[in-house]
Amino acid sequence: MEILGIDVGGSGIKGALVNVETGQLAGGRRRLKTPQPATPKGVIATVGKLVRKFDYQGPLGVGFPAIVLDGVVMSAANVSPKWVGYPGATAMAEATGCPVTLLNDADVAGLAEARFGAGRDQKGVIVVLTIGTGIGSALFVDGRLVPNTELGHLYLPGHREDAEEYASDRIRTEKKLKWPEWAGRLDKYLRHIEFLFSPNLFILGGGVSRKHEKFIPLLTVRAPVVPAALRNEAGIVGAALAAAPL
Ligand code: BGC
Repeated sequence: MEILGIDVGGSGIKGALVNVETGQLAGGRRRLKTPQPATPKGVIATVGKLVRKFDYQGPLGVGFPAIVLDGVVMSAANVSPKWVGYPGATAMAEATGCPVTLLNDADVAGLAEARFGAGRDQKGVIVVLTIGTGIGSALFVDGRLVPNTELGHLYLPGHREDAEEYASDRIRTEKKLKWPEWAGRLDKYLRHIEFLFSPNLFILGGGVSRKHEKFIPLLTVRAPVVPAALRNEAGIVGAALAAAPL
């Protein structure tokens, strides 16, 4: 079965048809720019436009960079504050004519990794982090997701800023940090998560996972750390999986 998955990001809104039995893309990806500011009106119109490009009717899965409870957006770290309290799933369903499953972007990326990627057949506690403009998290216990964890907003001991303001890929580029320097920050963050959750495995995704050989060997956590197997496609694949009928 092919389902359209959409990943709403800070700079782009990407979509593709996904074969939900295999986790493979069933066709090419399409991308539209995220309107700035990323207000509900602008983003929803863009999602509508993207769905029309695929000429698609059917269940639609959307990953969104915020807390999402029962289709309602509950936070807005990297999108317009107008999203807080906004019924995103209903509005997207009206704009597209499709039934919409709306979930946190890191949670859906984690679902894809747990089913088809680096977390496949792994028992125990898995922490998936998507490292980009922000830091998103997905927590799994024996393959079941604990939704809406926000580990990117943890405060590290002695720090005035949260982890996202200290160890995201945006901070690496903004502060022109060299790989070892940034890896040191990431390591401090992962060690704190390890102290709190004792995971069996860390999976690191987001754009920076393409460069994993530059920083994963420098990390000192006890648990194994692996790059996301589906890389940047995890968001699209997971969004489609979330919308697939059981
Ligand atoms: C948001 C999360 C999101 C992450 C990655 C964070 O700023 O609070 O909900 O998953 O960015 O997009």
